[in-house]
Amino acid sequence: MAAHNSTRKATPLRVAVVGAGIIGLSIALELRTRGVEVAVYDRGLELGAGVTIRAAGMLGAAFEWAAEDEQRSLAALARHSGMLWPDLAARVERLGGGSVEFSREGALVVARTAAETEWLESLAAACQARGLPVSRLTAAQLTRLEPGFTGQARGGLLLPDDQQVDPALVLQRFGAALSRSGVALKFGRHVERIVGGQQFLMPDGERFDRVVLATGAHTVPGFVGPRGAPLQSGLPEPIPVKGQMLALATVSGGPRHVIHTRDVYIAPKSRWTLIGATVERGRADAAVDRDAIARLRAKAAELVGVLADAPEVSAWAGVRPTTPDDAPLIGETAIPGVVAALGHYRNGVLLAPATAEIIADQIIDGKVSPMAVAFDPRRFDNGGEVPHSPSGAGLDS
Ligand code: GLY
Repeated sequence: MAAHNSTRKATPLRVAVVGAGIIGLSIALELRTRGVEVAVYDRGLELGAGVTIRAAGMLGAAFEWAAEDEQRSLAALARHSGMLWPDLAARVERLGGGSVEFSREGALVVARTAAETEWLESLAAACQARGLPVSRLTAAQLTRLEPGFTGQARGGLLLPDDQQVDPALVLQRFGAALSRSGVALKFGRHVERIVGGQQFLMPDGERFDRVVLATGAHTVPGFVGPRGAPLQSGLPEPIPVKGQMLALATVSGGPRHVIHTRDVYIAPKSRWTLIGATVERGRADAAVDRDAIARLRAKAAELVGVLADAPEVSAWAGVRPTTPDDAPLIGETAIPGVVAALGHYRNGVLLAPATAEIIADQIIDGKVSPMAVAFDPRRFDNGGEVPHSPSGAGLDS
Protein backbone atom coordinates (compact mmCIF):
# COMPACT_ATOMS: atom_id res chain seq x y z
CA MET A 1 0.00 0.00 0.00
CA ALA A 2 2.86 2.36 0.84
CA ALA A 3 4.20 1.87 -2.68
CA HIS A 4 0.81 2.77 -4.14
CA ASN A 5 0.50 5.92 -2.08
CA SER A 6 3.99 7.15 -2.83
CA THR A 7 3.70 6.59 -6.59
CA ARG A 8 0.08 7.68 -7.09
CA LYS A 9 -0.33 10.64 -4.80
CA ALA A 10 -2.36 12.67 -7.25
CA THR A 11 -4.77 9.97 -8.39
CA PRO A 12 -7.16 8.20 -6.06
CA LEU A 13 -6.78 4.50 -5.45
CA ARG A 14 -8.90 2.46 -7.87
CA VAL A 15 -10.67 -0.63 -6.58
CA ALA A 16 -12.75 -3.21 -8.47
CA VAL A 17 -15.35 -5.02 -6.38
CA VAL A 18 -16.57 -8.28 -7.92
CA GLY A 19 -20.07 -9.06 -6.66
CA ALA A 20 -23.02 -6.68 -6.16
CA GLY A 21 -24.62 -8.38 -3.17
CA ILE A 22 -24.93 -6.67 0.19
CA ILE A 23 -21.27 -7.39 1.00
CA GLY A 24 -19.84 -5.98 -2.24
CA LEU A 25 -22.13 -2.96 -2.16
CA SER A 26 -21.33 -2.13 1.47
CA ILE A 27 -17.63 -2.29 0.72
CA ALA A 28 -18.08 -0.13 -2.36
CA LEU A 29 -19.91 2.54 -0.36
CA GLU A 30 -17.37 2.51 2.45
CA LEU A 31 -14.45 2.81 0.03
CA ARG A 32 -16.16 5.56 -1.95
CA THR A 33 -16.96 7.48 1.24
CA ARG A 34 -13.24 7.38 2.01
CA GLY A 35 -12.28 8.82 -1.37
CA VAL A 36 -11.54 5.67 -3.38
CA GLU A 37 -12.58 5.29 -7.03
CA VAL A 38 -14.74 2.17 -7.18
CA ALA A 39 -16.38 0.00 -9.83
CA VAL A 40 -18.63 -2.95 -8.98
CA TYR A 41 -18.86 -5.88 -11.41
CA ASP A 42 -21.72 -8.37 -11.25
CA ARG A 43 -22.79 -11.26 -13.43
CA GLY A 44 -26.48 -10.39 -12.98
CA LEU A 45 -28.26 -8.08 -15.38
CA GLU A 46 -29.45 -5.84 -12.54
CA LEU A 47 -29.28 -5.52 -8.77
CA GLY A 48 -30.86 -8.43 -6.93
CA ALA A 49 -29.63 -11.33 -9.05
CA GLY A 50 -27.93 -13.01 -6.08
CA VAL A 51 -28.84 -14.21 -2.63
CA THR A 52 -29.25 -10.84 -0.86
CA ILE A 53 -32.73 -10.19 -2.23
CA ARG A 54 -33.70 -13.72 -1.17
CA ALA A 55 -32.63 -13.13 2.43
CA ALA A 56 -34.95 -12.39 5.35
CA GLY A 57 -33.01 -9.28 6.41
CA MET A 58 -32.86 -10.21 10.09
CA LEU A 59 -29.99 -8.57 11.95
CA GLY A 60 -29.97 -11.07 14.77
CA ALA A 61 -26.66 -10.64 16.54
CA ALA A 62 -28.08 -11.90 19.84
CA PHE A 63 -30.26 -14.72 18.51
CA GLU A 64 -27.65 -16.11 16.16
CA TRP A 65 -24.58 -15.81 18.32
CA ALA A 66 -25.26 -15.48 22.05
CA ALA A 67 -25.04 -19.22 22.66
CA GLU A 68 -22.29 -19.97 20.12
CA ASP A 69 -19.27 -20.95 22.19
CA GLU A 70 -17.38 -22.29 19.18
CA GLN A 71 -17.53 -19.04 17.23
CA ARG A 72 -16.63 -16.33 19.72
CA SER A 73 -14.82 -14.19 17.13
CA LEU A 74 -17.82 -14.35 14.87
CA ALA A 75 -20.13 -13.44 17.75
CA ALA A 76 -18.00 -10.36 18.43
CA LEU A 77 -18.00 -9.41 14.75
CA ALA A 78 -21.78 -9.88 14.56
CA ARG A 79 -22.35 -7.70 17.60
CA HIS A 80 -20.08 -4.98 16.28
CA SER A 81 -21.79 -5.11 12.90
CA GLY A 82 -25.23 -4.92 14.51
CA MET A 83 -24.10 -1.72 16.21
CA LEU A 84 -22.95 -0.27 12.86
CA TRP A 85 -26.30 -0.97 11.17
CA PRO A 86 -28.27 2.07 12.42
CA ASP A 87 -25.67 4.36 10.91
CA LEU A 88 -25.45 2.37 7.67
CA ALA A 89 -29.23 2.35 7.32
CA ALA A 90 -29.38 6.12 7.84
CA ARG A 91 -26.55 6.70 5.35
CA VAL A 92 -28.07 4.49 2.66
CA GLU A 93 -31.50 6.02 3.19
CA ARG A 94 -30.11 9.55 2.93
CA LEU A 95 -27.96 8.86 -0.14
CA GLY A 96 -30.40 6.44 -1.73
CA GLY A 97 -33.47 8.60 -1.27
CA GLY A 98 -35.83 6.26 0.59
CA SER A 99 -36.47 3.85 3.43
CA VAL A 100 -34.84 0.44 3.97
CA GLU A 101 -37.42 -0.33 6.69
CA PHE A 102 -34.79 -0.54 9.38
CA SER A 103 -36.61 -1.75 12.48
CA ARG A 104 -35.45 -1.82 16.10
CA GLU A 105 -38.56 -3.56 17.43
CA GLY A 106 -36.40 -6.43 18.72
CA ALA A 107 -36.90 -10.13 18.12
CA LEU A 108 -39.00 -12.64 20.03
CA VAL A 109 -37.82 -16.18 20.68
CA VAL A 110 -40.62 -18.56 21.54
CA ALA A 111 -40.75 -21.96 23.24
CA ARG A 112 -43.58 -24.41 22.54
CA THR A 113 -42.39 -27.46 24.52
CA ALA A 114 -40.53 -28.27 27.74
CA ALA A 115 -37.36 -28.98 25.74
CA GLU A 116 -37.65 -25.65 23.98
CA THR A 117 -38.16 -23.91 27.33
CA GLU A 118 -34.81 -25.33 28.43
CA TRP A 119 -33.21 -24.13 25.20
CA LEU A 120 -34.72 -20.70 25.76
CA GLU A 121 -33.32 -20.58 29.27
CA SER A 122 -29.82 -21.43 28.04
CA LEU A 123 -30.11 -18.70 25.37
CA ALA A 124 -31.19 -16.18 28.04
CA ALA A 125 -28.30 -17.20 30.30
CA ALA A 126 -25.84 -16.88 27.40
CA CYS A 127 -27.15 -13.40 26.60
CA GLN A 128 -26.77 -12.34 30.22
CA ALA A 129 -23.27 -13.81 30.46
CA ARG A 130 -22.27 -11.75 27.40
CA GLY A 131 -23.95 -8.55 28.41
CA LEU A 132 -26.59 -8.75 25.69
CA PRO A 133 -29.96 -7.29 26.72
CA VAL A 134 -32.68 -9.92 27.11
CA SER A 135 -36.08 -10.08 28.84
CA ARG A 136 -37.90 -13.26 29.80
CA LEU A 137 -41.59 -13.23 28.87
CA THR A 138 -44.54 -15.26 30.13
CA ALA A 139 -47.16 -16.58 27.70
CA ALA A 140 -49.43 -13.67 28.71
CA GLN A 141 -46.69 -11.11 28.06
CA LEU A 142 -45.99 -12.70 24.69
CA THR A 143 -49.64 -12.42 23.75
CA ARG A 144 -49.65 -8.76 24.68
CA LEU A 145 -46.77 -8.18 22.25
CA GLU A 146 -48.18 -10.50 19.59
CA PRO A 147 -51.98 -10.81 19.94
CA GLY A 148 -52.00 -13.35 17.09
CA PHE A 149 -50.12 -16.01 19.06
CA THR A 150 -51.95 -19.31 19.53
CA GLY A 151 -51.83 -21.20 22.83
CA GLN A 152 -48.68 -22.98 21.59
CA ALA A 153 -46.43 -20.22 22.92
CA ARG A 154 -45.47 -21.27 26.47
CA GLY A 155 -42.95 -18.54 27.10
CA GLY A 156 -40.35 -16.51 25.35
CA LEU A 157 -37.58 -13.97 25.25
CA LEU A 158 -37.41 -10.48 23.89
CA LEU A 159 -34.01 -9.65 22.36
CA PRO A 160 -34.38 -5.87 22.12
CA ASP A 161 -31.14 -5.24 20.22
CA ASP A 162 -31.94 -7.56 17.32
CA GLN A 163 -33.04 -5.54 14.30
CA GLN A 164 -34.24 -6.07 10.74
CA VAL A 165 -34.32 -4.46 7.31
CA ASP A 166 -36.04 -5.25 4.03
CA PRO A 167 -33.22 -6.61 1.85
CA ALA A 168 -34.92 -5.66 -1.44
CA LEU A 169 -35.19 -2.05 -0.27
CA VAL A 170 -31.61 -2.13 0.96
CA LEU A 171 -30.43 -3.18 -2.49
CA GLN A 172 -32.53 -0.54 -4.20
CA ARG A 173 -31.23 2.25 -1.94
CA PHE A 174 -27.65 1.04 -2.26
CA GLY A 175 -27.99 1.13 -6.05
CA ALA A 176 -29.15 4.75 -5.98
CA ALA A 177 -26.65 5.76 -3.29
CA LEU A 178 -23.69 4.28 -5.15
CA SER A 179 -24.69 5.72 -8.52
CA ARG A 180 -25.09 9.16 -6.98
CA SER A 181 -21.73 8.81 -5.26
CA GLY A 182 -19.98 8.08 -8.56
CA VAL A 183 -19.48 4.33 -8.21
CA ALA A 184 -19.69 2.54 -11.57
CA LEU A 185 -22.14 -0.38 -11.35
CA LYS A 186 -21.35 -2.82 -14.15
CA PHE A 187 -24.06 -5.43 -14.60
CA GLY A 188 -24.04 -8.43 -16.91
CA ARG A 189 -20.28 -8.80 -16.37
CA HIS A 190 -19.26 -12.30 -15.44
CA VAL A 191 -15.64 -11.80 -14.43
CA GLU A 192 -13.93 -15.12 -15.08
CA ARG A 193 -10.31 -14.01 -15.31
CA ILE A 194 -8.30 -11.08 -14.02
CA VAL A 195 -4.73 -10.32 -15.07
CA GLY A 196 -2.40 -9.19 -12.27
CA GLY A 197 0.71 -7.07 -12.76
CA GLN A 198 1.44 -3.43 -11.99
CA GLN A 199 -2.32 -3.20 -11.70
CA PHE A 200 -5.24 -5.59 -12.18
CA LEU A 201 -6.66 -5.76 -15.69
CA MET A 202 -10.36 -6.60 -15.87
CA PRO A 203 -11.96 -8.31 -18.90
CA ASP A 204 -13.46 -4.98 -20.04
CA GLY A 205 -10.01 -3.39 -20.22
CA GLU A 206 -10.32 -1.32 -17.02
CA ARG A 207 -7.36 -1.30 -14.65
CA PHE A 208 -7.47 -1.21 -10.85
CA ASP A 209 -5.02 -1.09 -7.97
CA ARG A 210 -6.94 -3.56 -5.83
CA VAL A 211 -9.61 -6.22 -6.33
CA VAL A 212 -12.24 -7.19 -3.75
CA LEU A 213 -13.88 -10.60 -4.18
CA ALA A 214 -17.46 -10.59 -2.92
CA THR A 215 -18.88 -13.26 -5.18
CA GLY A 216 -20.96 -15.13 -2.58
CA ALA A 217 -21.73 -18.70 -3.54
CA HIS A 218 -20.17 -18.34 -7.00
CA THR A 219 -16.65 -19.48 -7.82
CA VAL A 220 -14.19 -16.59 -7.59
CA PRO A 221 -12.49 -15.33 -10.77
CA GLY A 222 -9.20 -16.92 -11.80
CA PHE A 223 -6.04 -14.77 -11.70
CA VAL A 224 -3.06 -14.91 -14.03
CA GLY A 225 0.20 -12.99 -14.05
CA PRO A 226 1.22 -10.63 -16.87
CA ARG A 227 2.64 -13.56 -18.85
CA GLY A 228 -0.39 -15.76 -18.31
CA ALA A 229 0.92 -17.93 -15.45
CA PRO A 230 -1.88 -18.78 -12.98
CA LEU A 231 -1.85 -17.02 -9.62
CA GLN A 232 -3.34 -18.91 -6.68
CA SER A 233 -5.58 -16.99 -4.32
CA GLY A 234 -5.53 -19.86 -1.79
CA LEU A 235 -9.27 -19.52 -1.23
CA PRO A 236 -11.43 -22.58 -0.56
CA GLU A 237 -14.31 -23.24 -2.94
CA PRO A 238 -17.53 -21.75 -1.56
CA ILE A 239 -19.88 -24.29 0.01
CA PRO A 240 -23.50 -23.66 -1.04
CA VAL A 241 -26.30 -23.96 1.53
CA LYS A 242 -29.70 -23.72 -0.06
CA GLY A 243 -32.49 -22.02 1.87
CA GLN A 244 -36.14 -22.11 0.82
CA MET A 245 -38.66 -19.65 2.15
CA LEU A 246 -42.04 -18.16 1.43
CA ALA A 247 -43.72 -14.77 1.52
CA LEU A 248 -47.32 -14.41 2.71
CA ALA A 249 -49.58 -11.42 2.17
CA THR A 250 -49.83 -9.13 5.18
CA VAL A 251 -53.05 -9.99 7.01
CA SER A 252 -54.88 -8.49 9.94
CA GLY A 253 -53.77 -10.12 13.20
CA GLY A 254 -50.44 -11.08 11.64
CA PRO A 255 -47.09 -10.86 13.43
CA ARG A 256 -45.40 -7.55 14.29
CA HIS A 257 -41.96 -8.72 15.40
CA VAL A 258 -39.32 -11.02 14.06
CA ILE A 259 -40.17 -14.31 15.74
CA HIS A 260 -37.85 -17.29 16.10
CA THR A 261 -38.58 -20.77 17.25
CA ARG A 262 -36.04 -23.55 17.09
CA ASP A 263 -37.11 -24.58 13.59
CA VAL A 264 -38.75 -21.64 11.85
CA TYR A 265 -38.56 -17.86 11.72
CA ILE A 266 -41.14 -15.25 10.82
CA ALA A 267 -40.00 -11.83 9.60
CA PRO A 268 -42.85 -9.36 8.95
CA LYS A 269 -42.11 -6.54 6.50
CA SER A 270 -44.61 -3.87 5.48
CA ARG A 271 -45.34 -5.52 2.12
CA TRP A 272 -45.36 -9.16 3.21
CA THR A 273 -44.41 -11.65 5.91
CA LEU A 274 -41.43 -13.90 5.29
CA ILE A 275 -41.22 -17.40 6.70
CA GLY A 276 -38.01 -19.39 6.52
CA ALA A 277 -35.98 -21.32 5.98
CA THR A 278 -34.61 -24.69 5.01
CA VAL A 279 -30.88 -25.35 5.49
CA GLU A 280 -29.70 -27.70 2.71
CA ARG A 281 -25.93 -27.95 2.79
CA GLY A 282 -24.23 -28.69 -0.51
CA ARG A 283 -27.22 -27.70 -2.63
CA ALA A 284 -26.99 -24.77 -5.03
CA ASP A 285 -30.15 -25.18 -7.09
CA ALA A 286 -33.11 -22.81 -7.09
CA ALA A 287 -35.84 -25.46 -7.11
CA VAL A 288 -38.73 -24.88 -4.72
CA ASP A 289 -40.08 -27.99 -3.03
CA ARG A 290 -43.77 -27.46 -2.25
CA ASP A 291 -43.65 -29.94 0.66
CA ALA A 292 -40.81 -28.02 2.31
CA ILE A 293 -42.71 -24.75 1.84
CA ALA A 294 -45.89 -26.29 3.30
CA ARG A 295 -43.94 -27.52 6.33
CA LEU A 296 -42.50 -24.05 6.96
CA ARG A 297 -45.92 -22.46 6.73
CA ALA A 298 -47.45 -25.08 9.04
CA LYS A 299 -44.79 -24.47 11.69
CA ALA A 300 -45.35 -20.72 11.50
CA ALA A 301 -49.14 -21.15 11.64
CA GLU A 302 -48.89 -23.35 14.76
CA LEU A 303 -47.65 -20.22 16.45
CA VAL A 304 -49.53 -17.42 14.65
CA GLY A 305 -52.87 -18.87 13.58
CA VAL A 306 -53.77 -16.39 10.81
CA LEU A 307 -50.71 -17.46 8.84
CA ALA A 308 -52.47 -20.74 8.01
CA ASP A 309 -54.77 -18.98 5.52
CA ALA A 310 -52.80 -15.90 4.48
CA PRO A 311 -52.37 -15.93 0.69
CA GLU A 312 -48.93 -16.99 -0.49
CA VAL A 313 -47.34 -14.24 -2.58
CA SER A 314 -44.16 -16.05 -3.51
CA ALA A 315 -41.77 -18.84 -2.56
CA TRP A 316 -38.13 -19.12 -3.52
CA ALA A 317 -34.73 -20.60 -2.78
CA GLY A 318 -31.52 -18.69 -2.12
CA VAL A 319 -28.01 -20.08 -1.88
CA ARG A 320 -26.04 -19.02 1.17
CA PRO A 321 -22.28 -19.18 0.76
CA THR A 322 -20.29 -20.81 3.56
CA THR A 323 -16.76 -22.11 4.21
CA PRO A 324 -15.28 -25.29 5.73
CA ASP A 325 -15.47 -23.78 9.24
CA ASP A 326 -18.69 -21.78 8.63
CA ALA A 327 -16.85 -18.52 9.31
CA PRO A 328 -16.31 -15.86 6.65
CA LEU A 329 -13.14 -15.07 4.71
CA ILE A 330 -12.32 -11.39 5.29
CA GLY A 331 -8.98 -9.89 4.30
CA GLU A 332 -6.09 -10.30 1.94
CA THR A 333 -5.76 -13.49 -0.10
CA ALA A 334 -2.51 -15.18 -1.15
CA ILE A 335 -2.42 -12.79 -4.13
CA PRO A 336 -1.19 -9.41 -2.86
CA GLY A 337 -3.75 -6.71 -3.57
CA VAL A 338 -6.63 -9.17 -3.87
CA VAL A 339 -8.94 -9.05 -0.89
CA ALA A 340 -11.73 -11.49 -0.02
CA ALA A 341 -15.09 -10.75 1.59
CA LEU A 342 -16.74 -14.14 1.22
CA GLY A 343 -18.56 -16.95 3.01
CA HIS A 344 -20.94 -14.96 5.24
CA TYR A 345 -23.36 -17.91 5.29
CA ARG A 346 -26.59 -17.06 7.17
CA ASN A 347 -25.55 -13.56 8.18
CA GLY A 348 -24.43 -11.60 5.14
CA VAL A 349 -26.85 -8.76 5.75
CA LEU A 350 -25.94 -8.50 9.44
CA LEU A 351 -22.18 -8.73 8.83
CA ALA A 352 -22.02 -6.31 5.88
CA PRO A 353 -21.09 -3.06 7.67
CA ALA A 354 -18.36 -4.63 9.82
CA THR A 355 -16.96 -6.43 6.79
CA ALA A 356 -16.91 -3.18 4.83
CA GLU A 357 -15.13 -1.38 7.67
CA ILE A 358 -12.47 -4.10 7.94
CA ILE A 359 -11.88 -4.26 4.18
CA ALA A 360 -11.69 -0.47 3.81
CA ASP A 361 -9.26 -0.19 6.74
CA GLN A 362 -7.12 -2.86 5.15
CA ILE A 363 -7.16 -1.45 1.62
CA ILE A 364 -6.72 2.19 2.56
CA ASP A 365 -4.54 2.03 5.66
CA GLY A 366 -3.00 -1.45 5.38
CA LYS A 367 -4.50 -2.08 8.82
CA VAL A 368 -5.60 -5.57 9.83
CA SER A 369 -8.29 -5.16 12.46
CA PRO A 370 -7.84 -7.46 15.50
CA MET A 371 -11.48 -8.36 14.90
CA ALA A 372 -10.56 -9.76 11.47
CA VAL A 373 -7.64 -12.00 12.45
CA ALA A 374 -9.85 -15.06 12.92
CA PHE A 375 -11.24 -14.61 9.40
CA ASP A 376 -7.93 -14.62 7.50
CA PRO A 377 -8.84 -15.96 4.05
CA ARG A 378 -5.50 -17.83 3.92
CA ARG A 379 -6.35 -20.11 6.86
CA PHE A 380 -7.23 -23.03 4.56
CA ASP A 381 -4.31 -22.46 2.18
CA ASN A 382 -1.65 -25.12 2.62
CA GLY A 383 -0.67 -25.08 -1.01
CA GLY A 384 1.99 -22.41 -1.36
CA GLU A 385 4.03 -19.71 0.17
CA VAL A 386 1.80 -17.34 2.12
CA PRO A 387 2.91 -13.73 2.01
CA HIS A 388 3.26 -12.28 5.49
CA SER A 389 2.80 -8.63 4.62
CA PRO A 390 -0.82 -7.50 4.56
CA SER A 391 0.21 -4.46 2.53
CA GLY A 392 -0.11 -5.95 -0.94
CA ALA A 393 2.86 -3.84 -2.03
CA GLY A 394 4.22 -6.59 -4.30
CA LEU A 395 2.11 -5.66 -7.29
CA ASP A 396 3.55 -2.21 -7.64
CA SER A 397 7.16 -3.18 -7.83
N1 GLY B 1 -30.44 -15.76 8.20
C1 GLY B 1 -31.51 -16.61 7.95
C2 GLY B 1 -31.26 -17.66 6.99
O1 GLY B 1 -30.14 -17.83 6.51
O2 GLY B 1 -32.17 -18.39 6.68
